[in-house]
Amino acid sequence: MNAPALTVDGFVKTFGGVHAVEDVSFTVADGSVAALIGPNGAGKTTLFNLITNFYPADAGQARFYGASLAGLAPEKIARLGLQRTFQTARVFPGMTTLDNVLAGAHRRVRSHGVRQMLWLPGARQEERELAAEAQALLDLVGLSAFSAAAATSLPMGAQKLVEVCRALMARPRMLLLDEPAAGLTDAETAEFASLLRAIRDNGITILVVEHNMSLVMDVADDVIVLDLGRLIARGAPAEVQRDARVVEAYLGAQME
Ligand SMILES: Nc1ncnc2c1ncn2[C@@H]1O[C@H](COP(=O)(O)OP(=O)(O)OP(=O)(O)O)[C@@H](O)[C@H]1O
Ligand SMILES: [Mg+2]
Repeated sequence: MNAPALTVDGFVKTFGGVHAVEDVSFTVADGSVAALIGPNGAGKTTLFNLITNFYPADAGQARFYGASLAGLAPEKIARLGLQRTFQTARVFPGMTTLDNVLAGAHRRVRSHGVRQMLWLPGARQEERELAAEAQALLDLVGLSAFSAAAATSLPMGAQKLVEVCRALMARPRMLLLDEPAAGLTDAETAEFASLLRAIRDNGITILVVEHNMSLVMDVADDVIVLDLGRLIARGAPAEVQRDARVVEAYLGAQME
């Protein structure tokens, strides 16, 4: 087992009387795809918000390749190479699909300030290379034909893929994806599974929240199960699928 890319250590978060996350700890191995699953309201998105410090934790902390993320601004955490996407896609309105993806490179651009302002050759060359890279990412998710369209004009499932491209454009070490395949057809979901494997094979660690069990079973090296804010199971997909508590949590949710 590789050293952990991400360590979640004792996170607790309460909203009013709701125990959204209750003492959750786990690790995600470097170079793996881990799936975070659980019924609606289990605390999956809240956990992402705690890891990335969108919400302050009541207790606990996350470590990224050993370094504590406690107290760091979300922007700073992203710059360390931990990129996230949102359950409800957050594309920038008034911008094309291509520019939305390009925005992910914002932090890596070398030609700043005067160089860019004067449109010096170095800046122009860099701009061209980034655009080609963004276009290639859109091609990878089957959206290259829409690069000039307003990102907000795309269907929700496609907007979520644009967000994944934007996150990749930042050249992250790890991705946190919140239901990235929601809104995709079965065929698109199968393609998305290949994309996740390709991302992992390029050395990027993934933690993905996903409700589509066949996708999870297909791509995850490791599955982490939350229910009512608590970690109830963790292991290889086949193991977790047989776990009585997991079956109960899902059947219970379906019967409601
Ligand atoms: N900002 C907030 N204010 C108040 N309550 C919140 C907030 N965010 C989450 N909660 C509550 O915390 C609990 C966990 O919510 P969370 O969104 O993390 O679940 P989830 O596992 O992502 O669910 P889903 O599968 O529906 O996305 C729920 O009871 C939810 O209502
Ligand atoms: Mg959620």
